This record gives sequence, C-alpha cells and structure tokens, in this order.
Amino acid sequence: MGKSYPTVSPDYQKAVEKAKKKLRGIIAEKNIAPIILRLAWHSAGTFDVKTKTGGPFGTIKHPAELAHAANNGLDIAIRLLEPIKEQFPILTYADFYQLAGVVAVEVTGGPEIPFHPGREDKLESPPEGRLPDATKGSDHLRDVFGHMGLSDQDIVALSGGHTLGRSHKERSGFEGPWTQNPLIFDNSYFKELLSGEKDGLLQLPSDKALLSDPVFRPLVEKYAADEDAFFNDYAEAHLKLSELGFADA
Ligand code: HEM
Repeated sequence: MGKSYPTVSPDYQKAVEKAKKKLRGIIAEKNIAPIILRLAWHSAGTFDVKTKTGGPFGTIKHPAELAHAANNGLDIAIRLLEPIKEQFPILTYADFYQLAGVVAVEVTGGPEIPFHPGREDKLESPPEGRLPDATKGSDHLRDVFGHMGLSDQDIVALSGGHTLGRSHKERSGFEGPWTQNPLIFDNSYFKELLSGEKDGLLQLPSDKALLSDPVFRPLVEKYAADEDAFFNDYAEAHLKLSELGFADA
C-alpha cells in the first residue's frame, strides 16, 4: 500500500492547521462529533477499489448523493460545517470533511489519526448502494468493505466508531445509542456488544454479526479487553478509510 502524497503549498498547509483548530472548537462546543464522523465515513466508504470510483472526494455534499437513503440526516452535518469551510476557501471539501472526521475522533478522546492533505474535489457522485445495510450480516459486511479494499480487521476496528453517537428513528429506522457515553470515544462499544442487549442501548443486526463470526469475534474480545489495541487498529483503519483512492502510488 505505497502512498505517494502530493505536496501542498505553505498557504494550504497553514489553512489545514487553522481549520483543524476551528473544527475542534465547533465540534466540542456543539457536541457534533458523532454526526461529523458519520459524514466522513459515508463520504469515504463509497470507494470501489476495482473501478476507482467514489471515495473521500467531497461529492457527499451534492444533493443527489445526500439523497441516498444511507445518508439520511447528513445534510445537517454539511450545514453545521459550512460556516467553518467558508473561512477556508483554499481547502477542498474532500480534505475538509476528512479533516473533520479525524478531529471528531480526537476531541472525544480517541486516537490521533494522521492527516495528509491534497485530495481533490470530484464532480461525479458514486451510485447509490455502496454503504452497508444495518439489517445484514457478516457476508454482507465483507462484501461491502471488500469493495472498498478493507480487511476483516478494518471492519471490526471501524465498527468501533459506534462508540460515538446514536441512531435516530427518523433517519435510519433504528433508535438509541450503543453505549452509555456516546460523546466519548473509547472501547465501550465492544464491552457493551459482548455483555448482551440492555434496555436503552442499541445493537444493530450488523453489530451483532461481529459476535457470531469466527474471525470477527476474537477481535471484538481483544478490543473489549485492550483499549490500546483498539485505538491502534482503529487509527490504522480510519487512516486507510480516509485515504481510499487518494495518493495511491
Ligand atoms: C459496519 C457497518 C455499519 C453499519 C451497517 C452502520 C449503520 C449505522 C446506522 C444505521 C446508524 C444510525 C444513523 C441514524 O439513524 O442517525 C449509524 C450511525 C453512526 N455510525 Fe455507523 N454503520 C456502520 C459502520 C460505521 C463506521 C465504519 C463508522 C465510523 C468509523 C460509523 C460511525 C457511525 C456514527 C458515529 C454514527 C452516529 C451518528 C449520529 O449520532 O448522528 N459507522 N451507523
């Protein structure tokens, strides 16, 4: 997976640093880390490794892509970020949304994820249907993440993103948070998953699939027992996700 990152101008790099600070501020102040992480993930997760289409290239802000069923509610995230984006016209939306995703994990106590700028904004949105369906199981998860070029370990580590936030009935049909502290990025998603269903907490069918699969389950157990291991693997997987189709040598 050799990456060859483009060089950006000093002004561009400076804008990245400043935008990062502004993003820390707004994400912390408005408690919006969960929906911002979901935005960054749904932006990148459309990448198709075979056709090199989709991916973290800013197209998620287009009304046609926002209208994909999986993206219900993400217009809110776009709208919340726009006042910051307006201050940094030099940045691409592609970089800006991925930077916001990295900041969302960092400000809630998660691992630091390296960020490399230089993504370009693409014009064409991917077709609908590339993001995972929460009602399905392991085969579906492998199929969808496999199309992105991501591994079994990436699937389990990234599923830990559900340590943040909640489902909203009007957006996805599901309701409730996965953990008791949905604004803190820690390994409680895996602990809750292993401890079984509880009143007030949610487990999607796709979350539960991680328990019944012989490759996924040992990773769930490892991350529940060892937060450092989770943070390491999460940071690696998130970095990959945020750079799908970008800077490939
Ligand atoms: C493994 C397959 C996945 C499925 C089937 C799935 C499904 C869902 C669903 C149905 C929701 C609820 C949306 C709503 O009603 O607001 C949701 C929320 C969320 N997802 Fe996932 N997801 C998956 C993977 C991921 C990944 C890889 C990440 C990030 C690394 C992630 C981060 C989030 C976050 C942070 C929220 C909460 C959003 C909020 O609070 O507004 N998900 N996901």
